[in-house]
Amino acid sequence: MEERHKILFAKGTILIALLGTLALISGSPVLADENECISCHRKVTPGFVADWGVSKHAEEEVTCSDCHGDRHRTAKDVHLVRLPDEHVCGECHEDQFGQFARGKHNYGWRSLNALPVTHMEPDELMEGGVGCGGCHNMGIKSAAEKRALRDKGYRYQNNSCDECHTRHAFSVKEARHPRACQQCHMGFDHPQWEMWSSSKHGTRFFVKQAGRLPEGAAAPTCQFCHLPDGTHENRTAWGFFGVRLPLPADKQWSADRTAILKALGVLNPETGEPTRRMEMMKSTRMIRFTEDAWKRERERMIRICSTCHAGQYARQRLEMGDRMIRQSDHLMARGIRIVASLYKDGIIKKPGHYPFAYPDFFYFYRTGGSYIDQVLFKMYMKYRMRTYQGVFHANPDYTYWYGWAAMTKSLGEIKELARTMRATHKVK
Ligand code: HEC
Ligand code: HEC
Ligand code: HEC
Ligand code: HEC
Ligand code: HEC
Ligand code: HEC
Ligand code: HEC
Ligand code: HEC
Repeated sequence: MEERHKILFAKGTILIALLGTLALISGSPVLADENECISCHRKVTPGFVADWGVSKHAEEEVTCSDCHGDRHRTAKDVHLVRLPDEHVCGECHEDQFGQFARGKHNYGWRSLNALPVTHMEPDELMEGGVGCGGCHNMGIKSAAEKRALRDKGYRYQNNSCDECHTRHAFSVKEARHPRACQQCHMGFDHPQWEMWSSSKHGTRFFVKQAGRLPEGAAAPTCQFCHLPDGTHENRTAWGFFGVRLPLPADKQWSADRTAILKALGVLNPETGEPTRRMEMMKSTRMIRFTEDAWKRERERMIRICSTCHAGQYARQRLEMGDRMIRQSDHLMARGIRIVASLYKDGIIKKPGHYPFAYPDFFYFYRTGGSYIDQVLFKMYMKYRMRTYQGVFHANPDYTYWYGWAAMTKSLGEIKELARTMRATHKVK
């Protein structure tokens, strides 16, 4: 150590010792530099200081500067603060970091950005986090992704860990409650919260909470089925899109799933060859590409159900979900074929941004103004999803009225619209 540094070091040590003594005298349990953050922030952001105060971190003397660094110390240098990403949490919680990194949540940000529609919508919704990005913030961002965020002037959303253990209590009890999943797993295309909370599994949980079932009564939560034994690594067999490879042996189902893969832009509608989107699906783990990968997750889930139900009961129930996927694929493919034939006959013009003259679900409602495409998209994204998600979450009403029945209705509407479009189309 250089002489000058030694002196500074010695001075620093004396200062810390002095402040430490002062802290002891005043009854404050925290260390010197943290005292500085906290005493000022008690005025600036009292709610967060209080929230941190009730955390395990406060108990264990993990303080503001452990996560935020100590370069910012006044109101004028706030830009010097570190907004901690997952790596910072990972320094002390290696296991959870590793599990999270291997799980599906780690692909949230990447899969969002892999969709073409994302880049047509306002940045506020994405990098700003008030829409899609508010849920897809999940995932460890690469240095380049973080730079892109900052270059656009977006400062926050650097951490996925606080999505279930919200800052600054960072509580494990909060993360174990199904409400921790609700903000994201709800609504239009993935109403798992609504399905679970109104199923027997969910209602039992709430009845138990109200003290009307004994503490030991069985009531599986999202975490029990999806993050078993405290793991942070999540993944399901079918995933979100309810498609997988290889194609099924059943000829009809295979043809129907192929129509869906074309509408997802994964297969070229003309040649049937895989497109670049197939690579994207692989790199974001969107679908299972082998029978084994699918089976592994399925068997894992059956083992979880079997802690309460008979194994064969669980197996049969989940197979019912698979069969409803097959049934809904057939309705879906019929809709896709009707709309595709309108493209083929020039009745719908290919929007400039579409790669093919074929329906494209990855543009969501941005279909180039074709209403029938929007009806078809909603049939896929809202109703087909509910048909099987409802079975998997033991919710008969979602499966039928909000799923299957609504798909049937969409198909009727698509047929009617196509008839009118053909009748009113002027041949030039
Ligand atoms: C003299 C008062 C003062 C001290 C000391 C202080 N801060 Fe701050 N801090 C502020 C003010 C003022 C802001 C801006 C609040 C606002 O935007 O309304 C701020 C903002 C922050 C933010 C939010 C940054 C952002 O980008 O929004 C964090 C995190 C933070 N401080 C952490 C710390 C830590 C850690 C320390 C100790 C190393 C510390 N502060 C010391 C006054 C202080
Ligand atoms: C265990 C780590 C950790 C500790 C300890 C911690 N923070 Fe934070 N803090 C975070 C994370 C994570 C964020 C969110 C970062 C982002 O959005 O990119 C954050 C964000 C903030 C923000 C800005 C965002 C907002 O919602 O306003 C403020 C202000 C803040 N912290 C203050 C504090 C203060 C004051 C302390 C000490 C009492 C503290 N933090 C301790 C992890 C921590
Ligand atoms: C400097 C080390 C350190 C850092 C950085 C840190 N933690 Fe912790 N954390 C601890 C210690 C120590 C405990 C208490 C012992 C334990 O439960 O492991 C703890 C406990 C926890 C708990 C359990 C709380 C409870 O209710 O039992 C959670 C959750 C947690 N941390 C999340 C986070 C998150 C998220 C981050 C990043 C934003 C983070 N930690 C950053 C050290 C750290
Ligand atoms: C901040 C939003 C958010 C929260 C909170 C959240 N999730 Fe997720 N979850 C997502 C996103 C986004 C994805 C899709 C990830 C992707 O794009 O690859 C996802 C995917 C999943 C999947 C994987 C589905 C598949 O494709 O196989 C499961 C299972 C899951 N979440 C369960 C949970 C559970 C259980 C909780 C609560 C403990 C929870 N999530 C909390 C946003 C969230
Ligand atoms: C999808 C929700 C979710 C996300 C995101 C999440 N956690 Fe957790 N975390 C949980 C649940 C649920 C538990 C409780 C596990 C159990 O039952 O023991 C937990 C427990 C913990 C614990 C306490 C472990 C113990 O045994 O006391 C720590 C520490 C922790 N998480 C850190 C992290 C870190 C670090 C991240 C980010 C890399 C993170 N968590 C992201 C849901 C989540
Ligand atoms: C009783 C167990 C169980 C509970 C409780 C449960 N799930 Fe599921 N979940 C499943 C099964 C089974 C699947 C389908 C697995 C497959 O693809 O074979 C599934 C699938 C999912 C998927 C992928 C898409 C889908 O719906 O098919 C997500 C995301 C998900 N669950 C989140 C949640 C959330 C969030 C909660 C709580 C609100 C929850 N789950 C409660 C068993 C459960
Ligand atoms: C309310 C939170 C929320 C919003 C808003 C949201 N998503 Fe999602 N998204 C999720 C969740 C949760 C999942 C996983 C659902 C499941 O597996 O059933 C998901 C799944 C996805 C997937 C599939 C990921 C995979 O690998 O399986 C893509 C792609 C996607 N969302 C894109 C978008 C786009 C684009 C937007 C905005 C135009 C958006 N999301 C808006 C929560 C959200
Ligand atoms: C922690 C115990 C537990 C786990 C794990 C569990 N269940 Fe249940 N399940 C129950 C209880 C209790 C009921 C209510 C039984 C009743 O209605 O009499 C129930 C009800 C059901 C129902 C409603 C039909 C009925 O008989 O009322 C279905 C379907 C179901 N479970 C399927 C599953 C599947 C599939 C899994 C795994 C993905 C699973 N369960 C996991 C405890 C569990």
